[in-house]
Amino acid sequence: MTSEPLHLSRGGTSVVLDPHPHGMPTIAYWGPALGDVGLDELRGITAAHQPQRVSGGIDVPALLTLLPLESAGWQGTPGLVGDRAGAQLYPRFTVTSMEREAGGALVEACDDDAGLAVRARLGLTASGLFTQALELTNTGDDDYEVRALNLFFPLHHTAAEILDTTGRHLRERSPQRHDLTTGTYSRTSRRGRPGADATVLLAAGNRGFGFEHGLVQGIHLAWSGNQQVLAEKTPAGAVFLSAGEVLSPREVVLAPGESYSTPPAVGSWGHGLNELSGRFHRDLRARDSHPQRPRPVTLNTWEAVYFALDLPRLLALADRAASLGVERFVLDDGWFRGRRDDTSSLGDWYVDETVWPDGLAPIIDHVRDLGMEFGLWFEPEMVNADSDLARAHPDWILQAEGRLPLPGRQQQVLNLGNPDAYAYILERLDDILTTNDIAYVKWDHNRDLLEAADARTGRAAVHRHVEALYRLLDELRRRHPGLEIESCASGGARVDLGILARTDRIWTSDCIDPIERLVNQKYTGLVVPPELLGMHIGGPVSHSTGRAHTLPFRAATAIFGHFGIEWDISDLTEAEYGVLGRYVALHRSWRDDLHRGRVVHAECPDPAMDLRGIVSEDRRRALFGYSLTASSASYPPGPVTFPGLDPDALYEVRPAVPEEGHPGNGQSPLAWLQRALDGDPVRLSGRALAQAGLQAPVLLPEQSMLIEFRAVGA
Ligand code: DGJ
Repeated sequence: MTSEPLHLSRGGTSVVLDPHPHGMPTIAYWGPALGDVGLDELRGITAAHQPQRVSGGIDVPALLTLLPLESAGWQGTPGLVGDRAGAQLYPRFTVTSMEREAGGALVEACDDDAGLAVRARLGLTASGLFTQALELTNTGDDDYEVRALNLFFPLHHTAAEILDTTGRHLRERSPQRHDLTTGTYSRTSRRGRPGADATVLLAAGNRGFGFEHGLVQGIHLAWSGNQQVLAEKTPAGAVFLSAGEVLSPREVVLAPGESYSTPPAVGSWGHGLNELSGRFHRDLRARDSHPQRPRPVTLNTWEAVYFALDLPRLLALADRAASLGVERFVLDDGWFRGRRDDTSSLGDWYVDETVWPDGLAPIIDHVRDLGMEFGLWFEPEMVNADSDLARAHPDWILQAEGRLPLPGRQQQVLNLGNPDAYAYILERLDDILTTNDIAYVKWDHNRDLLEAADARTGRAAVHRHVEALYRLLDELRRRHPGLEIESCASGGARVDLGILARTDRIWTSDCIDPIERLVNQKYTGLVVPPELLGMHIGGPVSHSTGRAHTLPFRAATAIFGHFGIEWDISDLTEAEYGVLGRYVALHRSWRDDLHRGRVVHAECPDPAMDLRGIVSEDRRRALFGYSLTASSASYPPGPVTFPGLDPDALYEVRPAVPEEGHPGNGQSPLAWLQRALDGDPVRLSGRALAQAGLQAPVLLPEQSMLIEFRAVGA
């Protein structure tokens, strides 16, 4: 075993591990790559990192380790909380091995007196993400209960401000900022899923950090159940981020020889959030399972017809969709036995014989004949009290003390940790997917969990439920190669990299109002790349906010992701139909770049302005959306600058939808725009566009303009 510090470096990131005499190694450094560091300099870095002993303190100054514990003098949030029948509260681990392994390092340690062994697996991905996971094994002779096992990421000492998101149904991922002061700032979910309010990223950085400036670091826990992420500053000045699963009493009790593994926590950093999120995007795109083919333009029936499933109407909707260039038709809630509204029948996963006397074949065949894929909605983890399933197997429902938890959307949660319930759901989904030509499942999850215990034992069951859910998804994908799955939880209540490891996109929010979506998509996109974010054009009046928006505005905000339509398009005017078709075609012509390129958000002088774009991988093309969410303070609004382009390339600048003409809104023509419309577009270098920018057009509030950049010359 090495007793020397270890320098890991990959993807522009460095991590330095330093052995600690009283426990697991410290992370002496995590951040921008340190370059070629020899052993001498490495020793220097770790020596320089040692704090002084101060009056009133412990004689061994505490350092943040991979598993900080009282036995090493640590008094902040602990790495491990657990006990053996009330004893062995304070393990002191001795490292037995600390070695490099492919893409990272493995550290092993044990405390033989406490009967515990721990393994820390650290990784640096090709994009420079820093991943950590811990496994704790009970090597003793009797049960050991784990109450918490947390992962830690040191922050740069200049971190002064925290960014996270909160939210609710129909308004997920609203950003909030706080000063990073002494104490703990934590975000906790006990909802059995991350929740609509969950932050996909907990970030901390230099005061005022933005999308393009300021050193910022952030973490994400790849887990779909109860969890906590926190930022902490100790009175001794240690600043760090931490993440771990939230466990209920007796939820994880390790028998001798058993292990508990944490979900992986993933850390990223950047000079600005664009760089930080780019590391997540590049890493997800490098996965073998990442969707490779163009993301099919989708029509989802939910906001088009809700529960009014009527075959002729659906056939007409499919005809219209196909003629617009839609490639996937998704039949949402309401198709299964007894389901007429949201009060009953979840669990009865048989095609409803009264609505569909010939099964789903008539709609599926029609959709397939039109050249589209067919997708179907399920909510496999849920059950209504009013269902044949609940009547037959009341003990399959998660519940404590022999009584049902309070309902949510009139429904309860099945205990997938119960092998019989698991087998039933697997059989039902497998059968429907085998007997029908279904390419896509929309997998919904419409309530928080409460009192989620196994009816057979009374023990807390969230951890096992999430493990079983992952197994179920993996098994269905194994049995149905090529099947794509969308993860939806009343919109974005379960957005995490655990579920995304086995699904192909997220339904980011039930709210498709473009004003709300601009925020939601921007902040969900801190971790999730656009091709995995469902973005649909809704009807003219948003069903969730009552606000009315023009079709170009709705389209321009949806176009950047996995694009679709969720609107009854059967009776559009010819004009609307033409505009919609134009945006479908525009999306399809740009989607290779939209789904592979680099996402950038520009910093604008006015909070009413929103400027975001995608720059193609080779930086030869870029598409930006400029929107006003309220009236601009300046009139005309002044220049905006465009990040992410190749500074040395020369770009022609044009409106991406020239058919919409000059959006001067009654003001004089804007020179660069008029030149583009006259066929003589201005040419500007990426450097000029990033530094001097372009005059933004005068827009009305809640109006957008798409601007494209194409490099000329070599
Ligand atoms: C909630 C989802 O988020 C919606 O898109 C829709 O599928 C409904 N459930 C159906 O009940």
